[in-house]
Amino acid sequence: MHQAPRLFIPKPCLPWLGLFLTLLIQAQPLVIHEDESKVPSYKLPSLLNMENGMPVQTESAWVHFRRPELLEMFTHQMYGAVPDGQVSVSAELLSEEDGLMDGMARRKQVLLRFAREGSDSSAEVHLLIYTPMTEKAVPAFLGLNFYGNHTITADKGVRISTAWMRDNPRQGVVNHRSTEASRGVLSTRWPIETIMKRGYGLVTAYYGDIDPDFDDGWKNGIHPLFYRQHQQAPEVHQWGSIAAWAWGLSRILDHLELEPWIDHHRIAVMGHSRLGKTALWAGATDPRFAMVISNNSGCGGAALSRRAYGETVRQINSSFPHWFCDAFTRFNDRESSLPFDQHQLIALMAPRPVYVASAVEDQWADPKGEFLSAKHASEVYRLLGVRGIELDQMPDLNHPVGSRVRFHIRSGKHDVTDYDWEQYLRFADEMLPSQ
Ligand code: GCU
Repeated sequence: MHQAPRLFIPKPCLPWLGLFLTLLIQAQPLVIHEDESKVPSYKLPSLLNMENGMPVQTESAWVHFRRPELLEMFTHQMYGAVPDGQVSVSAELLSEEDGLMDGMARRKQVLLRFAREGSDSSAEVHLLIYTPMTEKAVPAFLGLNFYGNHTITADKGVRISTAWMRDNPRQGVVNHRSTEASRGVLSTRWPIETIMKRGYGLVTAYYGDIDPDFDDGWKNGIHPLFYRQHQQAPEVHQWGSIAAWAWGLSRILDHLELEPWIDHHRIAVMGHSRLGKTALWAGATDPRFAMVISNNSGCGGAALSRRAYGETVRQINSSFPHWFCDAFTRFNDRESSLPFDQHQLIALMAPRPVYVASAVEDQWADPKGEFLSAKHASEVYRLLGVRGIELDQMPDLNHPVGSRVRFHIRSGKHDVTDYDWEQYLRFADEMLPSQ
């Protein structure tokens, strides 16, 4: 009789083999594609039907029923809810200087301190505020930055951040700390002089001041200030980092309400990439933002999740487990069972002006999925009596389309360029006219 060959495995190897097999079983194949023909067929969840099927036909039904229903779903299934908790905020003026940029601008640096009675944790957020030297309060752009306020300008008066940073020796960040060499390294993304000349203010802060961008088990940043006794981490439906950064933007807006040179009724919140996702979530959760700008925000931002083109839900949850609430992992590889999609996030801005910008070489962020979100969201703008995007096809390169919902796809890479800013300034000129 034929005997099956026996496999001999030396005993010391057994635990390693076990580990190897476990990892093999656990590892799900990660299919990432940037191929339009592989986009699964999908049906987008309805914007103008309640979850119970009731049609939403009036502005009032949108405002009082459908919008809160959608906001609740995004909050508890994706970005996470901000827990209750009384955090005190104090503001300290660190410096103020007039007559910068050939007499055109003034600069303020303000420190916001967050604390909570009975908690050892605290957080400090450094604000950098530029305003043109006008006599009137001006509308302003507010956006978080990736590597500290000093990286957006060569202005030597801006304090170098001492906070933890992602290492980036090319940009002068060594051992997780900024050095003098990082001054101005991201200035191409922030055309401050142009913004001043056009009559707008610019407000920024380092996003890591609110919550450092790494998976540290929720020990640092703003989250611990909200823990109940003995709580170690946010609960399954509670906030991840994106919701924390968005919360921080709202706290900055609270402060801007007190700044005499800023017209806080005309603040455009803007962000790039993960901070574009953040700007959208800030706009959705805080209607005080008069305009919202998403620059190349991609998955978890403007791009439709169901297309699973470029970055997918599984991919983003695996690479950045701290960005969303834990409940969002339930939709890994199950985009079609999400009760919402990102066109509904864009619609939460309605009727406020919203700009979604893509770049053709940024396929990871799925430009087409970003366009479709903006286009579909326009249905709600129509209900509210204003125009969004009427076009069905992606527009040509460098050819902005739409009215209160606007979209462009520009040539070039994942970045913020002068072209992008030119469009945002024009959009603001049109949509945030002086009162
Ligand atoms: C990664 C991530 C994106 C994110 C981007 C960024 O590419 O996958 O989701 O937008 O980083 O923030 O730079």
